[in-house]
Amino acid sequence: MATNITWHPSLSRHERNQLRGQRGFTVWFTGLSASGKSTVATALEQHLLHIGLAAYRLDGDNVRFGLNKDLGFSEKDRNENIRRIAEVAKLFADSSTIALTSFISPYRADRQIARDLHANASQSGDDALPFIEVFVDISLEEAEKRDPKGLYKKARAGEIKDFTGISAPYEAPENPEVTIRTDQLSVEESVRKIVEYLVEKGLIS
Ligand code: PPS
Repeated sequence: MATNITWHPSLSRHERNQLRGQRGFTVWFTGLSASGKSTVATALEQHLLHIGLAAYRLDGDNVRFGLNKDLGFSEKDRNENIRRIAEVAKLFADSSTIALTSFISPYRADRQIARDLHANASQSGDDALPFIEVFVDISLEEAEKRDPKGLYKKARAGEIKDFTGISAPYEAPENPEVTIRTDQLSVEESVRKIVEYLVEKGLIS
């Protein structure tokens, strides 16, 4: 950590939310590769924009082309990947935007760090930033059957190392706010389930 740095107070979150007319929060998708995280998160982003709310999705593959292009798929690199994304999502949420993140985020401890970062993001009496974990739950068999990018096939053939579900772990959430079974629900039904949760919690209307 750098020394000789000072935290500058800014607008209160309450004031920013009021001026922007919406509340910022993070919807954190987690699930195996090919589970449908990006598809559902994109449809949710579209829905939120459509009803006039500012929302922005951070995507696993895409972020690795820029911000996180120095990171691979070792446990240490995934930890750092998720730490940076959690910080970025927090900034979006703090700016009264709805941050949607679609990363495998396979380690429970990393997701907890992301959650804690939002919980501890209150300054000068502001509320914590809401963090909604959405478990995109499908079996490994189903993910492998889908295999849209042919990555499971390559991983089984030993051409990709540290592949989630095959040669690297996926730790399923124990208490996610929402679980969606993309093998049972359509994309629209999945979005509806998440939207219903957000409305019920008073995060959107
Ligand atoms: S993580 O675990 O959260 O850091 O991963 P993430 O940043 O979401 O990146 C996952 C996407 O990277 C591609 N890919 C791999 N996934 C898992 N394991 C290995 N070894 C790997 N190598 C490349 C893959 O396209 C993932 O995209 P999704 O959308 O999840 O299928």
